[in-house]
Amino acid sequence: MTTSLALSTPISAATEMGPTAAAAAQRRQILALQDVHAWYGESHILHGMTLSVAEGEVVSLLGRNGGGRTTTLRAIMGLVDRRKGSIRIAGAEVIALPPHRIARLGVGYCPEERGIFASLTCEENLRLPPSQAGGGMSVDEIYALLPNLAERRKTQGTRLSGGEQQMLAIARVLRTGSRLLLLDEISEGLAPVIVDRLLELITRLKSLNYTILLVEQNTHFVEDLADRHFVVERGQVVLHVTAAELASSAELLERYIGV
Ligand SMILES: Nc1ncnc2c1ncn2[C@@H]1O[C@H](COP(=O)(O)OP(=O)(O)OP(=O)(O)O)[C@@H](O)[C@H]1O
Ligand SMILES: [Mg+2]
Repeated sequence: MTTSLALSTPISAATEMGPTAAAAAQRRQILALQDVHAWYGESHILHGMTLSVAEGEVVSLLGRNGGGRTTTLRAIMGLVDRRKGSIRIAGAEVIALPPHRIARLGVGYCPEERGIFASLTCEENLRLPPSQAGGGMSVDEIYALLPNLAERRKTQGTRLSGGEQQMLAIARVLRTGSRLLLLDEISEGLAPVIVDRLLELITRLKSLNYTILLVEQNTHFVEDLADRHFVVERGQVVLHVTAAELASSAELLERYIGV
């Protein structure tokens, strides 16, 4: 039996459907955290994180600075010093697996610092990522999806704009064949017009049945995008809101994440 996410719908065959939260509840759970604790050294950061993401869902992690959203993504990837509890990827328990084994299951992590190579060109950056899970997008497929990167193929990483760097960072994850994407604050610091492009990209990936967990500060970025939202505070989920509940929960949300 294989648990690789790469074996779910190939991109070319994917249907253009947007799952509703209700439909998502019937779907296969791609990611499930149950009572996850995580530490950096002696610092106990996650205090019983419990959340799940179904196949094809876009889910946001909201919250104030320092609440533990990035640590949640890092804990999923195995990039914390210690973790306990249960983390299931497509049903398989991964709490004891090292990061490279987790990546091979088709989990792609795009860290806040983006991790692209400044000295390499855009295209070299795209050719570098290993196929972790098989079935990753070809460089041509990336260029079809993000024509802007095609125009900048010969441009060095450092000379790309912030928005282009962010697109490239996501594109590199798509090259690996990962079907579960963990994206950290991708809209941060970008101009509204670029944020709109990112919205289009994530919407497109959702229509291609990628499963996406988005850490965001910008509630506007996720309000029309995500099927569900989790608010994280002191290393725990303190609020769960579905897309349908979002409008009626605005005041409550503001209390948790407003400045
Ligand atoms: N490498 C580390 N060593 C020790 N403590 C850390 C480390 N990284 C983060 N922390 C602490 O863990 C807590 C949660 O940080 P985390 O980065 O997960 O927050 P966040 O919700 O992503 O917020 P933001 O990105 O807005 O800061 C914070 O108190 C932070 O200081
Ligand atoms: Mg963070």
